[in-house]
Amino acid sequence: MTAKITINDIKALKGRRKITMLTAYDYPTAALMDRAEIDMILVGDSLANVVLGLDSTTKVGMSEMLHHAKAVTRAVKRTLVVGDMPFESYQINPDESAKNARRFLVEANCDAVKLEWFDKCLEATKKIAQAGIPVMGHIGLTPQTAEKIGGFKVQGKDADAARKLIEQALELEKLGCFAIVLECVPDKIAKLITEKLKIPTIGIGAGIYCDGQVLVTNDMLGLFERFTPKFVKKYVNLSELIFKAIQSYKDEVTQKTFPGPEHSFSIKVEELNKI
Ligand code: KIV
Repeated sequence: MTAKITINDIKALKGRRKITMLTAYDYPTAALMDRAEIDMILVGDSLANVVLGLDSTTKVGMSEMLHHAKAVTRAVKRTLVVGDMPFESYQINPDESAKNARRFLVEANCDAVKLEWFDKCLEATKKIAQAGIPVMGHIGLTPQTAEKIGGFKVQGKDADAARKLIEQALELEKLGCFAIVLECVPDKIAKLITEKLKIPTIGIGAGIYCDGQVLVTNDMLGLFERFTPKFVKKYVNLSELIFKAIQSYKDEVTQKTFPGPEHSFSIKVEELNKI
């Protein structure tokens, strides 16, 4: 096993090789990612949509996020784990942000936290960074405040909007973020931001020029059927494989071909006769 990845390792990867990141919400998936030597796992608040069946990421709270983050960190030896701060933990009262961020580290054993851009983002980020907690920014499409930025749409498509994204990225870097997620941003704007920053950019729907890439795992494994964004590549269709396995199980149980002798336990005839 190679050593646990640190924040400095992630920063040092900029310009050397692409950084890999995926979301995870449970022990077995996180263990596979650790084994595959993925650099970072995000315990994303996408938990709300892809695991808990909710219609908005704003509907998960600290208790759900910590519960899933604990399962992930139990599985991980090497990969750096980032806990995604849920809406209620910093947007309602930015003064609460450092206290809640610390809970991800102390209670769930995460290595860092991520928070999305919103109107008081700099205030919240500053508080977390000043408390010595490694923090990742997230700009562009920010699902927690999607209705305020015109919906689930590509961001930074005109010069003014793109300039704002560049400013946000520079401010977050100045406050001490160790990396920034760029979600749904034109590839050339992601390139500009990546070139301007000393810290790595991690893209999702932001093209090839970012320093790293993140995807929602349930999307790339074909495990979330409600909606698939354009930027997702499905590497396997697990929904179909799992559905077929469940159907086969149902057929074999009803047709009495499972369980077979190889799945059953026996007792000696003499013992059976004594009953
Ligand atoms: O919650 C999440 O999965 C995320 C990714 C989309 C970056 O924030």
